Amino acid sequence: MSKPADPAIPSIDRTIALVGLMGVGKSTVGRRLAKRLAREFVDADAEIEAAAAMTVSDIFARLGEPEFRAGEARVIRRLLDGAPKVLATGGGAMLNADTRALLKARAVTVWLRADLDVIATRVARRDTRPLLRGKDPKTTLAALAEARYPIYAQADLTVDVGAGSHAQAVEAVVAGLKAWSARKDER
Ligand code: S3P
Repeated sequence: MSKPADPAIPSIDRTIALVGLMGVGKSTVGRRLAKRLAREFVDADAEIEAAAAMTVSDIFARLGEPEFRAGEARVIRRLLDGAPKVLATGGGAMLNADTRALLKARAVTVWLRADLDVIATRVARRDTRPLLRGKDPKTTLAALAEARYPIYAQADLTVDVGAGSHAQAVEAVVAGLKAWSARKDER
């Protein structure tokens, strides 16, 4: 049975933003986490696609990555203006210094981290990620991890989601948020 909605992290009156590599489960875990916390869920990539009326792949192919990144920064800024929610960011969102500063100031950032082997297996199931197209997923993910992990590590908390179920990942995030919130209240 799924756990009842638990708005019992009342002192977290900010958006909870999930960050981390593509394929780690930000969207799936985020959707379930939002339900668990009785909050709205928003996926930044889906919002970018809606705003551009194009898929992420088409934006990369037709407009280029810099244009995608600019749109991503605009969309995240807009989403952070609204009511606190659960936000799944795209894997590159934290790389933009302005977005990073905005997330730091307005959200609780949660880095979802998993073994690259687990992620590589997951991303192999879909062909929607332009950064992986035509490349060996494991090698590409390893290069992305090397460049990005120091940046993701700036998140407010890190949750290892491993190869377990999404439900377990949600519980791990809830536990992490409760601990973070208690630490924050002590300060
Ligand atoms: C990207 C991750 C993707 C998407 C785009 C670029 C990245 O989002 O924003 O393909 O730079 O890591 P997911 O992390 O949701 O797959």
